[in-house]
Amino acid sequence: MKRQFPRWKNIKPLLGWSLPKFPLQDRKLKKTVNLAELRVLASKRVPKAVFDYVDGGANDEISYKRSAEVFSNVQFNARVLRDVSKVDLTTRIVGQDSALPIIFAPTGYTRMMHYEGEPMVAKVCEENNLIYSLSTMGTTSSQEIADQVPGVRRWFQLYLWRDRNQSLQFIYGAKDAGFEGLILTVDTAVGGIKWRDIRNGLTVPPKIGLKTFFDMALKPRWWANLLTTAPLEFATFRNFNKPLSEIAATVFDPAVTFADVKWLRSVWQGKLIIKGIQSVEDAKQLAKIGVDAIIISNHGGRQLDKSVVPLEILPEIRKAVGKKGKGTQIFIDGAVMSGADVLAAIALGADAVLIGRAYLYGAMAAGRAGVQKVVDTLRFEMETAMKLMGARNIAELTPEFVTLRK
Ligand SMILES: Cc1cc2nc3c(=O)[nH]c(=O)nc-3n(C[C@H](O)[C@H](O)[C@H](O)COP(=O)(O)O)c2cc1C
Repeated sequence: MKRQFPRWKNIKPLLGWSLPKFPLQDRKLKKTVNLAELRVLASKRVPKAVFDYVDGGANDEISYKRSAEVFSNVQFNARVLRDVSKVDLTTRIVGQDSALPIIFAPTGYTRMMHYEGEPMVAKVCEENNLIYSLSTMGTTSSQEIADQVPGVRRWFQLYLWRDRNQSLQFIYGAKDAGFEGLILTVDTAVGGIKWRDIRNGLTVPPKIGLKTFFDMALKPRWWANLLTTAPLEFATFRNFNKPLSEIAATVFDPAVTFADVKWLRSVWQGKLIIKGIQSVEDAKQLAKIGVDAIIISNHGGRQLDKSVVPLEILPEIRKAVGKKGKGTQIFIDGAVMSGADVLAAIALGADAVLIGRAYLYGAMAAGRAGVQKVVDTLRFEMETAMKLMGARNIAELTPEFVTLRK
């Protein structure tokens, strides 16, 4: 047999690595294959206290663990011999098309996770035609989002205050800044007890001890970005001139009731979404009031520990609220960490799901590229699973596709 010298052009296609390119790529980000690995990368790139703030839940963190466990008990009942050469993930969310059945949940303090904060995340939403929700506890104001990311579909998350005038200021601010929806969060009569944050001193106001402080110093890139950009602040309360502790004490109002929702419906002409629903009865009452959507949520297990699991209560709430396509829409959230989780929720009756930690892991791991990777990964996982289970579009995902194993 005639021999030849090994040729680079024959070897190269077999290799899973390549010579470094300039500008240098984030190789560690590139190597991650799913959201679980992005979470691990995130834990290495920000201080422990910051990671714990995102990753943690209330008390024993059982609510979160149970939500994740129920997702792992999902069984897909595939249908085969269907033409799935094309799948369409477009989803109607409160009257408009969204590229995916995924909404970015409101999360406070985003600039602590990555210095570019909310505008960076909103930009990814804009580029991917997804909805971005800005938290009342955000580090960017509603107007700043409007100025910096004018094309993004955006909702403002509100904590209703007894002081109606103050609440109205927030609502008018959101309206002027082109926010199409208001999310009223109602699972926060008081703040949940988060042991990780208490231990780390990451409370409002902060009580950062020496250990946490030195640990932060071990992440020089994170430190440098934080110190060389505008100071961290709750942008909504920028002009309040009150200490953080006083602001924190007023944010959660334990006296909010259904009457307040009716009042909000009367003063806000945009879309109204109520977040933190955990019972069939409450869902029914809200549908009767005529809200545009409810979010079945236990706040990602960050408020009441040992609360109901959104995915488990979803079918019953769907039955009580009525068929998809009419009236109040239903979204769910909590522990959504893969495309399969999204599909399971849609099949069991959700119109869309919210992700919180998932995109924050991306932000902590690699800023904008990390958040984009989260979107790409979820899209890829959804497309693949839909083809394998024989569903061509979101409307075809019906309950027969899913069994929850015990
Ligand atoms: C770091 C962090 C901050 C959050 N801040 C808020 C908030 O300000 N307002 C709110 O309504 N929900 C907030 N949430 C809850 C999310 O909106 C959402 O319900 C939850 O993250 C869903 O669970 P997941 O993180 O497992 O996806 C926060 C969640 C996280 C992780």
